[in-house]
Amino acid sequence: MIKPSLIEILHGGQANVTPVWLMRQAGRYLPEYRKIRERAGTFLDLVYNPDLAAEVTLQPLKRFPLSAAILFSDILVVPDALGQQVGFQAGEGPVLEPIRTVDGLKKLSRARVEDVLNPVYETVRRVRAALPDGKALIGFAGAPWTVATYMVEGRGSKDQGEAKKWAYADPDGFSALIDLLVETTADYLNKQAAAGADVLQIFDSWAGSLPENEFSKWSIRPTAEIVRRVRDKNPHIPIIGFPRGAGPLYADYARETSVDALSLDTALPQSWAAQHLQDHWILQGNLDPKFIVAGGKRMLEEAGRILKAFSGGPHIFNTGHGLTPETPPDHVAELIDFVVEWKHENTS
Ligand code: CP3
Repeated sequence: MIKPSLIEILHGGQANVTPVWLMRQAGRYLPEYRKIRERAGTFLDLVYNPDLAAEVTLQPLKRFPLSAAILFSDILVVPDALGQQVGFQAGEGPVLEPIRTVDGLKKLSRARVEDVLNPVYETVRRVRAALPDGKALIGFAGAPWTVATYMVEGRGSKDQGEAKKWAYADPDGFSALIDLLVETTADYLNKQAAAGADVLQIFDSWAGSLPENEFSKWSIRPTAEIVRRVRDKNPHIPIIGFPRGAGPLYADYARETSVDALSLDTALPQSWAAQHLQDHWILQGNLDPKFIVAGGKRMLEEAGRILKAFSGGPHIFNTGHGLTPETPPDHVAELIDFVVEWKHENTS
């Protein structure tokens, strides 16, 4: 039994290669994904089909020597399970029936959460059973703030304006939504762990749009509470936090949520992160995924620069945001080979 390098490093050990995986490593840039996606019906039909979701989760590992699989699902299964209508429209992204008042929260209920999410746990079990030796399985959920922005806006938005308006004007009412998400999300993550996830990542993709005090209130505090509840039931599972766009507030987030590792967005300077964060936290990131679209020498130079910048401490190579559909799979192959080779060259 080979211990996965990702687990090794997240438990404070030294991995002799830099673990590597990529956000959205399964998805539309892979022709084999598009084939299954067509067969499955809607995006949520695919997510709730354990056979197909497990296959899609494993697809990128069949092509590339990645260190981990990330469960194929979406952060918006939580509002879906709570009874909000969630759809994914081609070219448009997610569309939800918006909830903008405390009264609107009455439409949500925890009654069906377990039933709706059970197929996701089944996917985790199947992937766990099929995963080759030495590979880790990452489970995940959205952070309450980011999930709430979609629930309130009804779609992706540029400025999260509707969610902010509610949070700033009526913090008590908005708290009711956040508290419901904390409870549901902690339970969701604990059940992924019970089903066989080795690592958990919390995606707070819109954390960076909040000013300092509101960031503390709506990103840090709910995430800290989720981490506490997960550790209560699963004390040893490593947790990676991704407060995208938090800038220098990454340090406050890390301290106050007590996550084990930080996923860095593309804009966070490596030198700053290495200096201020890497002594206490394991860092993950942060190649701009557009470099993988560009490919070739420029991509490898940038990847090399990142590997070097983080070579003084624990580092998991990743992108700073998800891969986009235009990414050529050949470029991904070249990148992953480069990262896997790199550590060998530089430690011998
Ligand atoms: O490979 C992986 O990383 C695992 C699967 C995964 C998906 N979404 C699959 C997906 C993960 C971890 C997510 C997280 C997610 N989903 C986030 C946080 C990370 C981020 O990107 O900021 C957010 C904000 C969402 C919400 C969401 N889901 C949006 C905005 C969209 C539309 C944009 C798009 O890429 O189409 C989705 C749909 C989605 N989630 C797809 C996939 C593969 C594409 C759907 C399709 O195949 O038609």
